[in-house]
Amino acid sequence: MNLFYSKIAGLALIAFLSGCTTPNIETSQYLNSPAFSNDVANTAVLGKWSRSCALCHITGEAGAPVVGDQEEWQRRLAQGEQAILKNVLEGYNAMPALGYCMSCEVSDFRAMIAYMAGTNP
Ligand code: HEC
Repeated sequence: MNLFYSKIAGLALIAFLSGCTTPNIETSQYLNSPAFSNDVANTAVLGKWSRSCALCHITGEAGAPVVGDQEEWQRRLAQGEQAILKNVLEGYNAMPALGYCMSCEVSDFRAMIAYMAGTNP
């Protein structure tokens, strides 16, 4: 784990801690079956993430959902895995098709979404 990843992990932790709100029924139901929960972001996936997605998803560039902002990610995940994957593959508003990662497989995107959403930390 190099310094860059430590910083990302730190940001994600801060966002996680400050995103702690009173749970409601919908949230706790959702947490019983998190989206992309079988998709683990290993070092290779995180490398691709840091070279492409990080550009926008750390700062929230152009309204990109910020890594670790669980409330925002849960809102987006509510549309379902297939719909959100389609938006990544085809692009969606200011989100570029494939997120500028031409070498990414669908399995990479799944793990990246789980990583950003914190559904499989
Ligand atoms: C050029 C900036 C940029 C890059 C690079 C980028 N994104 Fe995004 N992404 C965005 C923006 C902006 C949005 C919000 C679009 C909206 O809701 O209008 C977004 C939204 C998303 C969403 C939510 C889509 C939805 O249906 O709500 C996912 C998932 C996502 N990005 C994944 C990725 C992944 C994975 C990568 C890297 C492979 C990546 N992004 C790279 C800008 C970027």
